[in-house]
Amino acid sequence: MSEETSQTGANLTETKAEPRSEAETKAEPRAKAGSEASPNRTRGSKPPISREIGTPSMPKADQSRALLEAIKLNKVFSTGSEELVILNALDLTVERGRSMAILGASGSGKSTLLYLLGGLDKPTGGNVYSMGRDLFALSENDLAHWRAQEIGFVFQFHYLLSDFTALENVAMPLLLSGKGRQEAFDLAGPVLKRVGLADRVGHRPGALSGGEQQRVAIARALIMEPRILLADEPTGNLDNRNAAMVNDLICQLVSERNLSAIVVTHNERLARMMDTCLELFEGQLRPWEGPEAARGSG
Ligand SMILES: Nc1ncnc2c1ncn2[C@@H]1O[C@H](COP(=O)(O)OP(=O)(O)OP(=O)(O)O)[C@@H](O)[C@H]1O
Ligand SMILES: [Mg+2]
Repeated sequence: MSEETSQTGANLTETKAEPRSEAETKAEPRAKAGSEASPNRTRGSKPPISREIGTPSMPKADQSRALLEAIKLNKVFSTGSEELVILNALDLTVERGRSMAILGASGSGKSTLLYLLGGLDKPTGGNVYSMGRDLFALSENDLAHWRAQEIGFVFQFHYLLSDFTALENVAMPLLLSGKGRQEAFDLAGPVLKRVGLADRVGHRPGALSGGEQQRVAIARALIMEPRILLADEPTGNLDNRNAAMVNDLICQLVSERNLSAIVVTHNERLARMMDTCLELFEGQLRPWEGPEAARGSG
């Protein structure tokens, strides 16, 4: 068992078929692919997760359905007399434990798509389902709960809270979800250690390098044990050396934690580390054919 797995008490009980209470599931961190208990598990052949989350008012998840499913998604921005069609009947299915890169020209709508998939913005038309639950039919409270439990966001800019230490920043989602201070810090410490920052826990963001700040942001995104990682140009603000380090870390964590990941990036190396590469072009997704094709399409 890895050091982190043993420290967080991770086990494989999430693969049980019976629905489990919220309290139980919160108390039990998710299984890590490749742990001692499942040495032969490889990416792409993972058992379905049957963790039940939600509030009493939230419709029950249908575990047989995809983690995220966008159907005929439209997004139109109206600016004065002009209508900008950014997403045009876009379909996308995000399978459990699969990672995808989304590439595309600046302004093609990559961030817009990620915000919709994470329930941070509403579409003009179409739907996003999470295990059969229509995200935009949920109450604001249920949507916020879903987001906190299921999604880890990493942005180009880290958005860490400058007055708080690295440990406090990582622990913040746990504190906001009602965990006690000590318990939150006890959980945050090992995750910071996992991203290589065991000796920076007491540093505020201003006293961390760009790469370190982004690693804290990644630790914060993962502290709630989400199933889905949404990353919007996570290394866009870093120099080559730090970008390579953060790219590798993201890929390792996606694999270890059996995450479904959507990574928007201009970084070809990072894109190629994902299971699938798609390009957002004229409001729809198509297979990414490499930089030559991207240049050819303008
Ligand atoms: N609130 C808004 N109102 C009007 N137009 C918007 C709004 N938000 C985004 N847009 C426009 O939608 C288009 C897509 O924006 P988006 O940020 O999704 O692009 P992107 O693919 O992420 O680009 P980049 O690679 O530069 O980050 C852009 O042309 C942008 O100007
Ligand atoms: Mg963007």
